[in-house]
Parts: sequence; C-alpha cells; structure tokens
Amino acid sequence: MGTLPPGPRSFSLVDFIRTGFISAEPVVKRYAALYGPTFRVKSPNGMLTITGDPEAIRAIYTADPEAFDVWGVELTEPVFGRSSVAVTTGARHRRDRKLLGPPFSAGAMRAHGKTIADISLDVASRWRPGRAFSMLAATRAIALDVIVRVVFGVRGEERIGRTREAVLGLIESLSPSFIVLPALRRDFGGFGPYARNQRATRALDALLVEEIRARRAAGDASQDILGLMMSARHDDGGGGMADVEIAEQLRAILFAGHETTAMSLGWAMYWLHREPAVLERVVGEIDALGPAPAPDALASLPYLEAVCLEALRIHPPVVDVARVVKRPFQLGGYTIPAGDAVTASPLLLHGREDLYPSPERFRPSRFLERKFSPFEFIAFGGGARRCLGAAFAMVEMKVVLGTILGKYRLRLESQAPIRHVRRGLTMGPSGGVAMILEGERERRAAERRAAAVQGSQGTSGRRPPTPAS
Ligand code: HEM
Repeated sequence: MGTLPPGPRSFSLVDFIRTGFISAEPVVKRYAALYGPTFRVKSPNGMLTITGDPEAIRAIYTADPEAFDVWGVELTEPVFGRSSVAVTTGARHRRDRKLLGPPFSAGAMRAHGKTIADISLDVASRWRPGRAFSMLAATRAIALDVIVRVVFGVRGEERIGRTREAVLGLIESLSPSFIVLPALRRDFGGFGPYARNQRATRALDALLVEEIRARRAAGDASQDILGLMMSARHDDGGGGMADVEIAEQLRAILFAGHETTAMSLGWAMYWLHREPAVLERVVGEIDALGPAPAPDALASLPYLEAVCLEALRIHPPVVDVARVVKRPFQLGGYTIPAGDAVTASPLLLHGREDLYPSPERFRPSRFLERKFSPFEFIAFGGGARRCLGAAFAMVEMKVVLGTILGKYRLRLESQAPIRHVRRGLTMGPSGGVAMILEGERERRAAERRAAAVQGSQGTSGRRPPTPAS
C-alpha cells in the first residue's frame, strides 16, 4: 500500500461544528498550514482527503470518471433526488449530460438575456432611495425568478406566481435535521419537517408536470430550456426524458443553481461597493455601451466578467463536493484507498499566493492579466461533473450586475467586513449585505455622453479609467 496523505486523526467536535454550521474556511486553512496542501481527515462521513494542490486537482479532474462514485447520495436525496444528473454515474450520467448540455450552453443562454435584465429591473424597482435593503434578498428573488421563467419556462403572471410559491415552499421545507439524519425521513402521520418537505416536493412536481403536459397538448415547440429538454432525444434511438424525469431534473437544477448564483451576486455587489476604483472601472465599461445596453453586449464585457470570476474565486459558494474513490487512487504522490473520498478545495486553491498574489484582495484584473487553467480556478468544479450551469451562471451574473450597475447608484450601509459563512448547502455572505439606494445613475450617464459628444475630434471626453484592480 502506498503512502497516505498526512493529517489529524479526526475532526475535533469543534472543527466539525465550525465546518458544518459556520465556515469550513478557517478549518481547512489551518489543516493546510499544519500538513500541507493535501491532507486526510476522519470526517463523520468517512475518511476524506482534501487538496488545494493544482497537480492533485488535475489528477482528480482528468481521471476516468468511472474511478469515482458520487459522495453522500443518501444525504442529498431530498435535494437532488435519486436519478437527477447531479447524482447519476456511468453511462446514465453521460447520457444526462449529453441531453442537458445544449439547453445550458452559453449560446442558448444568450437568448434569455432580456428576460434576466427585466427580472433584475423589476426586483430593483422595489428599492426606495435612502432606504436600506438586503441585497441578498434581492439577488435571491432575481435568481428564483430566473429559474422559474428561464429554466422552467413558466409564462403568465398567475402561473409564475404559483410556481414561485411552490419553489419557495420547497426551499423552506428543507431542514438540516432530516438532511443530516436520514433516519428522520419518516412521515410521522403527515406531521413534522420531512412530511412537509414531501408535500412541497409533490406540489412543485405536479406544477412542473402540468406545465410539460400543457405544452405537449398545445404542440408548443418553444426553444427555451424546458422546450429543449422536452425535445432532446437519446443517441441510442430511445425516446426522450419522461415527464416525471424532467420534473426531477428541474428540481435538482433549481437547487444547484439558485442559492449559488444568488450568493455570488451578493458577494460581487459587496466587493464592488467596497472597492471604488473597481466599481468605477466596471461602470465605465458598461457606460461605454451607451444607453440601455443590450444584455448580449453586457455578457461580452471583459472586465465585468473578471469581476464575476474574482467574486467566485475569493468566495466560492460550493466548497465541499467530494467523490468516493472506487479503487486505490494516485493523488500527488499519495495513494488514496478505495472507499475514501477526495475533495478539490476551492477555498485552499483560490487562496494560494503563488497563483493569486495577495489572495485576500478583490482584484478582478488578475483575470485579465493571465489565464487560469481548469485546475487553478475551480469555482464550478471540474472534469466530467463540472457544473452544468456554469455558462448559465456567468451570463446571469453579468446581465444582472450590468443592468443594475448601469442604472443605479448604491452604497453599502456599513463598511464592516462581511464573512464567508455556511448557508445551508452553499457558503455565502454573513447577514443580508445591507445596501442603500442612492438614486438612479441615468443623469450622470447622460452627462458623460454629452461630454463625450462635446469632446474634440477623436477624444471621447470620458476620463481615462483609473488604474483599477
Ligand atoms: C455561481 C453559480 C454556481 C456555482 C458556483 C456552481 C458550482 C457548482 C459546482 C462546484 C458543482 C460540482 C462540480 C463538480 O462536481 O466538480 C456544480 C454542479 C452542478 N451545477 Fe452548478 N454552480 C452554479 C450555478 C449553477 C446553475 C445556474 C445551474 C443550472 C441552472 C447549475 C447546475 C448544476 C448541475 C446540474 C450540477 C451537477 C453536474 C453533474 O454532477 O454532472 N449550477 N455546480
């Protein structure tokens, strides 16, 4: 047997509670400082090797996918079900990825830019000048409506409202008690958190199946995401996905895509309003597109993209995706025994000084200065299971930020630092990211445009961008 990675004998109870309920960040960073970038711990769910070493991460992401099982399928069943793309393996997983890939491609996403911009403006229209509001509540509301309208393809105010309620009911019905302790997944005569969760699941599934059947009955061949899922056909000449299967996939996608995107948008808003030079540069980039920029143009802005990547780097929302090793696995000079789990840790990798100098600083331009390999930036995971919604999330983030920043002036209610903490399945900002609407930016933009027109031949009249981070 080869060498095992070094590490403590087990998680102490304090570390377990901190990791599971508060934040994994200080714990993994302390272990990495003690044992190096690859270490092995005894977690409550078995032996786990965590690595922030790009070469070890390369080994995980380039390995034959058949070398791994999905970790914690039983624990995540209330969220991802038993047969969604997030938990299937082998041929079934390859088939699901092939069917679901095209609807989630960047190209397909761009068709939805206008809807995403409209949703952003609708949510922002509820802010009142001078009054504090929770940016996280806003980004959650935006991400929720994007899922309902863009992914589920629901149309009409009444149906959108009903589906939104059903989704919220399902999200709120998830309780850590039965997720952590599967033994509590019992009906108890229709009472208790699990029974409530089951009712909420059935209610949403019923709405989704109703939507699918109504479309089939009407011969609706819309090319939105649901339409593409309904018309996708297996390569082997078999049919497409059954209605209930599509509903389960949609539910899993909801959980994978909602909180993650909302948290990342919340972080991006926070950092932009703590770093005035960064904000000025990104707003300058948006203004240069002229009034009412097209969502497609926003999605193509390089510095705005760098802002999103930097938010995902500094505070990755998904930090503990593990894979179970089916047979002994070579990892950076160590041998991981069959049955152990391995995790590529974005918290460790994205905090490396050699890859990201001054990693604690929010400096989007690092993504313009060099290209990071898939083993150096892993907010969306990697390999055969890399986030299916990565392109979707990036377009969504750019359009939401570009639309809001182009129109409004905002500030943080307080300059007190916010911590990256556990928030259910994901990690995100502590508190709600309280912000204050200062007013609309339109006048300032109009002034700049007027100044640009007045500028003498060839000079734009716009101030050259300050050397922003
Ligand atoms: C900023 C937003 C997001 C982040 C940071 C994120 C991150 C991740 C990560 C780390 C994984 C695991 C990858 C791995 O195992 O290596 C994942 C998987 C997944 N994500 Fe995302 N995600 C985001 C948004 C979305 C969105 C918007 C959707 C869909 C609308 C989505 C759908 C999925 C699905 C279906 C999987 C499972 C893929 C598989 O197992 O094959 N995600 N995501």
